[in-house]
Amino acid sequence: MTEAIEIFECGPRDGLQNEKRQIPTAEKIALVDCLSRAGFRRIECASFVSPKWVPQMADSADVLAGITRGEGISYAALTPNMRGYEGAIAAKADEISIFGSASEGFSKANINATIEESLERFKPIMEAARHVDLPVRGYVSCVTDCPYDGKVDPGEVARVAEALFAMGCYEISLGDTIGQATPDSIAKMLLAVRDVVPVHRLAGHYHDTSGRAIDNIDASISLGVKVFDAAVGGLGGCPYAPGAAGNVATERVMEHCERIGIDTGLDANIVQEAAVMARKMRES
Ligand code: HMG
Ligand code: MG
Repeated sequence: MTEAIEIFECGPRDGLQNEKRQIPTAEKIALVDCLSRAGFRRIECASFVSPKWVPQMADSADVLAGITRGEGISYAALTPNMRGYEGAIAAKADEISIFGSASEGFSKANINATIEESLERFKPIMEAARHVDLPVRGYVSCVTDCPYDGKVDPGEVARVAEALFAMGCYEISLGDTIGQATPDSIAKMLLAVRDVVPVHRLAGHYHDTSGRAIDNIDASISLGVKVFDAAVGGLGGCPYAPGAAGNVATERVMEHCERIGIDTGLDANIVQEAAVMARKMRES
């Protein structure tokens, strides 16, 4: 029986990137600072992508410069290419993420590259990160369903996950980008991916569009996954995935785990405080 899981907090990045209102940098910094007191080991709070593609993340360097860094917390940033990598290094991100897709349609829409082109684009990033011992996480989007291509073959997810792991990503985060997965489709996908990447190197990244994210987390826990991405306040969505609602809410995952006797190591009061802040950011 799993006794503990880790929640990788991605609210300040995946949560906020889709918000229409340009959120002031100071509000983003205040959210990250609150999250830093809650017990997370990793907080994704920056994205060095094209500001033309995702204007909300254009102040990522200022966010990283403005936060009060908590002892032992890794502050993570997305980097789609070498330009993004250089931005993340200059802003002193503690780790970076490269992000690919298991479906061609989403790969083209999200990063303007085929899957093969994206894997080529990631190689110099991995090489540069290796030189400076910077940890790199790998995302695979659309692990069960794609907004452009429909159902996604688990074999294809395994192929991309294996390629990112072989390149040197320390963990592979498996994204149900549009929240259409079911416990059954998640299990089929995980069984395929587990054959090629050790399960302790996998994370579940489930959007809650259909209200099944918690069930999908349970299915993943029963197959050995122990890391889950979540966004405080249930913020989120991806601008290139039409219909993608928020990430599963951190506080819901935490409460669910408490109920079933799994430790998350988080301070519930501070997580709730951050959730209130996050929801206000969305409403205002
Ligand atoms: P492109 O248009 O093919 O690239 O975009 P380009 O090299 O032709 O550059 C276009 C313009 O962007 C140029 O500027 C570049 O300088 C600039 P211009 O000459 O037109 O003035 N540019 C950059 N600026 C700042 N930082 C950079 C950068 N790179 C180029 N790093 C590119 C290719 C990858 C850049 C673009 O497609 C892009 O930025 N995509 C990011 C989309 C994105 O952020 N999506 C959301 C994150 S993924 C996600 O949410 C899913 C996830 O949560 C998991 C899940 O749920 O499944 C991770
Ligand atoms: Mg996401």
